[in-house]
Amino acid sequence: MPQISISGRSYHYRDVGEGVPVVLLHGFPFTGDSYWPQLERPPTGCRLIVPDHRGFGLSDLAPGIVTMDAMAEDALALLDALSIDAAIIGGVSMGGYVAIALTRLNPGRVKGLVLIDTQSSADDDAGKARRETVAKDVLTNGVGPLAESMLPKLFSATAPAEMKAKVDQMMRAQNPEAVAAASRGMGARVDGKDILPRFAGPLLVIVGSADQITPVEKAKSMAELVPNSELIVIEGAGHLAHLEQPEKTGQLIEQFAARF
Ligand code: MLT
Repeated sequence: MPQISISGRSYHYRDVGEGVPVVLLHGFPFTGDSYWPQLERPPTGCRLIVPDHRGFGLSDLAPGIVTMDAMAEDALALLDALSIDAAIIGGVSMGGYVAIALTRLNPGRVKGLVLIDTQSSADDDAGKARRETVAKDVLTNGVGPLAESMLPKLFSATAPAEMKAKVDQMMRAQNPEAVAAASRGMGARVDGKDILPRFAGPLLVIVGSADQITPVEKAKSMAELVPNSELIVIEGAGHLAHLEQPEKTGQLIEQFAARF
């Protein structure tokens, strides 16, 4: 897998397909491989660029909390390294938080946003406390108990067992320090309502109708913040709609990219 060096840290990414650059940012606590159906069959007309966030997969961790801004800065450094001025920026769940952070940091680099099974709101106090509990727990007990508690919430009732097993294995393989640092980073994220109403768009919001973590209501409120937006509900899919309905998701990205 190709990599760049950011301040001496390795940052790995996948680069497949040809056409409009589309950066896909992964969720928590996964790696870029969590986009495996899209990587195997890149949407026509798209060059998919899929990094591993710092500390996840093959990318090195940096000291401190892994904030959404820090992950967004890494993605911007990758665009610089690849000499890409602007790209479609997409993300699933935590990847969506990072995509919104990137838009805030440098809207000129964002041709369009694709936000999948995510939300633009920040955590409330109880949510922030849960992030800290998760961080402490993974540092003490490893990622296993977190994976066990997350897995049932990630999928709809009809998701195939092999898919769940693959995602479970991916979560358990992550570095507890990176998982803790990203959990704290999610707890520290700010609300997207400052930037999204000022984002000229276009924004494509995709959500599974059976998403238990960031349900349809969250997707609707996020889409409503951007005038030039479209909301697509994928019937029957859970929080990882791009895995449960890969063809539909691929088609939607393809149609979105065809606008550019
Ligand atoms: C994710 O899938 O990235 C996480 O569920 C996001 C979150 O915990 O807020």
